[in-house]
Formats: sequence, C-alpha cells, structure tokens
Amino acid sequence: MDTIVRSADLRRIVAQWRNGGERVAFVPTMGNLHQGHGDLVRRATQLAERVVVSVFVNPMQFGPNEDFAAYPRTPDEDRALLESLDTDLLFLPEVDEMYPRGQEISTRVQVPDLDGILCGAFRPGHFVGVATIVTKLLNLVQPDVALFGEKDYQQLMIIRRAATDLCMPMEIVGVPTTREADGLAMSSRNRYLSVEQRQQAPRIFAALEAARRAIESGVADFAVLEQAGIEALQKAGFKPDYFSIRDAATLGEPATTADVVIATAARIGRARLIDNVKATPRR
Ligand code: PAF
Repeated sequence: MDTIVRSADLRRIVAQWRNGGERVAFVPTMGNLHQGHGDLVRRATQLAERVVVSVFVNPMQFGPNEDFAAYPRTPDEDRALLESLDTDLLFLPEVDEMYPRGQEISTRVQVPDLDGILCGAFRPGHFVGVATIVTKLLNLVQPDVALFGEKDYQQLMIIRRAATDLCMPMEIVGVPTTREADGLAMSSRNRYLSVEQRQQAPRIFAALEAARRAIESGVADFAVLEQAGIEALQKAGFKPDYFSIRDAATLGEPATTADVVIATAARIGRARLIDNVKATPRR
C-alpha cells in the first residue's frame, strides 16, 4: 500500500489504473478505523480491482464547540488495518492540501432540503462540511464506486443527492452498519464512553429495534413510538436529540405504506451517538 499526501500524486496514480482499464473503489474516512471501516474496505475490494482509502479529519464538518481537536487520530493502527485489507492507496492529506485558500472562503456544497433536519438541526453547518469534502474527494479520486456506512444514514442520503444533482458519474454504495455483539453500532466516538456508559450504550439499538418490531407488527401511530423511543433513551441515561421515524427514501414525513427509517441521536457524557434501523410497515 502506498501512502500519499498530495492530490496531484493521487490523481496521477489513479489515472494510471484507469488507463489500464482497472475499476477503482473509494472509501473516504476520518480515520481511527474500526471493523465498520474494515467492512467498507472489504466490500470495496469486491467491487473494484483498486481500492483507495482517504483519512482526513475534516474541520469544515465540526461545529465550533464540537470535538475536532479531540477526535481520535490513530495513523499507525489505521495503516496496519488497511495494509491487512489489501488497500492499494492511502490518501492522507493535511488541511492545507484540501483547503488551500482556507475553509472559510472555499466553495461549499449544500443539499438544502436534507441538511437542516435530524442531525442537521442539532449540528448547523455539519452537512455542508460533509458534502463539500466528499465532493472534493470524489472529484480528486473519480472512482467508479464510492462506499459509505449506513450508520450515517442522513449523510449517505445527502451524498447520494449531491452526486446526482452535481452529475457525478459514479455509483454511491451504502454498506450495512457493523455492530458489536451487544448491538452497539461501531463508531470512533464509542471511545468517549466510560465503562458504565458503554454498558448503557446498547440501549440505543434496543430502542430502535423495539420501534421496528412495533411498526412491523402493525403499529401505525409513529408519534407514540417516537415518544416511547425518547423515553426509553432518557431512562437509560441518555439525552436524546431526536428519535424520529422518516420515509426511508426521502427522509420526509413517512407514509404508513412505504419503508421507513427509524433514526436517533443521543448524548451521554462526552459522546453523541447516532444509529438507525429500517422497518417495513405491515401492509
Ligand atoms: O463518515 C465520515 O467518516 C465522514 O463524515 C466522511 C464521509 C469521511 C467525510 O469527512
């Protein structure tokens, strides 16, 4: 695996592969890689001959009071995991490489009807930062396929929409959430949990699953289920930002006939955890 820090080198190497007729898959990450990222890379190796992974903690997607400085950075472990997964190229740019004129005056990408709801309502500007960096990275790599985890469901929807709206000629693939044995969705931010909080954390998935079972057994009063989800999380010691049932295809108000996504974000101690599951209402 080669590690490079310059966009020009990235473009040159990928162009050589493409000229040789090889398909390229791309997995953008913020590092501190865990098995969830491992599953993204494994899927990428099934979809293309060459796999590029980027590790970049993107300042534009962090709010002023968020954890940009504290976000875990583990370059040696990341490199070892990626080597073991047969990654071809690791792109590890510095902030200046991605925002040479400074992020304040750089062009931004906004997906207006999706970025102010759910997490966007609690993290203003977050999804502009995500959509901007992902667009830049996709334009640099120009992969045939790019892969993102379904744990960040809203992020995945926003990236799909940006790619469609901006006519980006690549496939965006969502990969199912990787979970710990007790159901907790894998996340770099799980590191922020104390031993006691870690024991409470699977209650997020349990609350989502309770709502899913109810919907699939015919409960159609989603407002009641949302309130029950909030209360279950509060009882487990969380401060929930939201527990929301949305149309799985649009993130809009759910119809009782289409698939829904049940999504939540909840805070405990230093951690803000997100998770979601899909459900098919009984018809
Ligand atoms: O999901 C992430 O790790 C990040 O939001 C992403 C997609 C790499 C953009 O910085």
